[in-house]
Amino acid sequence: MFHRKLLLLAHLVAAYSLCAGCMTLEQMAPPVGDPFVPVARNMELELSELVKGRDIYISDCVRCHSVEPISRYGVDKWKRILPRMIKDTKLDADEASAVSSYVFAAQRVLEQSPSQMEAAQAARTETEPRESSGSLGRN
Ligand code: HEC
Repeated sequence: MFHRKLLLLAHLVAAYSLCAGCMTLEQMAPPVGDPFVPVARNMELELSELVKGRDIYISDCVRCHSVEPISRYGVDKWKRILPRMIKDTKLDADEASAVSSYVFAAQRVLEQSPSQMEAAQAARTETEPRESSGSLGRN
């Protein structure tokens, strides 16, 4: 019984330490999937460019800080911050345009799916019960 509690505690600690800002990577930087298709068409962007942009976003843009949740900033804020960050990251012109396209497309995708935004905001409070019931289920 005592061991079981310890195990549960270990699971919870592991769950918390994995929880970067308590949002998943998919919530912070949504993968280029179905919801991007109409947005890309609308913005006249290639999906392949968006895929490249996300790769840059989750690999190059994390050299100095962790992944920034795209939904944390509005379009105006992104327009101000991106050029500076792109310069800091020393991206070439193609990479710069890919990462900007991805950020603005992801912005629209997130805007159009309030449920995803809510899920992101609720992630913090949901983590504990979900992880603990998962642990109990596995034990
Ligand atoms: C060379 C280091 C470095 C790289 C690479 C970098 N950043 Fe940053 N970033 C910073 C620093 C330092 C800050 C905090 C101070 C500031 O706003 O300049 C920051 C802050 C931010 C913020 C928060 C801005 C705010 O005002 O709160 C966002 C969003 C951001 N970065 C996005 C990005 C993106 C997107 C990329 C990739 C294109 C990127 N960063 C690459 C150093 C970097």
